[in-house]
Amino acid sequence: MDSATGSNLTPSSKALSEDDKVLVRDTWREATKPEREAGQKLFKRRVLIFQIAPEAQDYFSSSDLESDEFQGHITSVISTLDKALQNLDDLTPLLPTLERLGTIHANMGIKRQQLNVVKQALLFTLSQELRELFTDECRKAWELTFDILADAMATGMVANSNDD
Ligand code: HEM
Repeated sequence: MDSATGSNLTPSSKALSEDDKVLVRDTWREATKPEREAGQKLFKRRVLIFQIAPEAQDYFSSSDLESDEFQGHITSVISTLDKALQNLDDLTPLLPTLERLGTIHANMGIKRQQLNVVKQALLFTLSQELRELFTDECRKAWELTFDILADAMATGMVANSNDD
């Protein structure tokens, strides 16, 4: 499917085309516009995260999907994504933050591959929100965007992991 392994790809080596950037930014704006309440609604399909990967639940102290911790994480993910989308032309300024974020996750035992749980939830939610706007081209642009973000996080995971 995708090559989402902890490769040595740098964010810039997976460059998005200008068309991809426009697509991703436009559809994010559409999916998260206030009328849709999607800032929170997005990822409130959170149950899916645990349906895709029940073991993801192990990383949170409570299995309560309404817990402040879990809801707070949804907000954290969205805000990280939002910042990345504002910096799609040049992610360099965000790299230290993303790397540190990767290290934080690696320290909790989370592997690069597990970040794709969020990718699946994101793609699913966007497809539900955007319906016919979520074309194949749009999906591909989003997949690439997520991979760039997750690969940037993975640089902090690789640097920190000696356990396998
Ligand atoms: C690309 C995907 C993800 C992003 C952008 C993301 C983002 C974040 C951020 C910004 C934080 C707060 C870090 C800090 O303390 O400064 C965080 C913490 C955390 N993340 Fe993630 N995360 C992702 C994927 C995951 C996945 C897949 C899991 C579980 C399987 C997970 C579990 C946690 C946990 C348990 C914490 C600590 C508690 C909390 O702050 O909510 N994350 N994440």
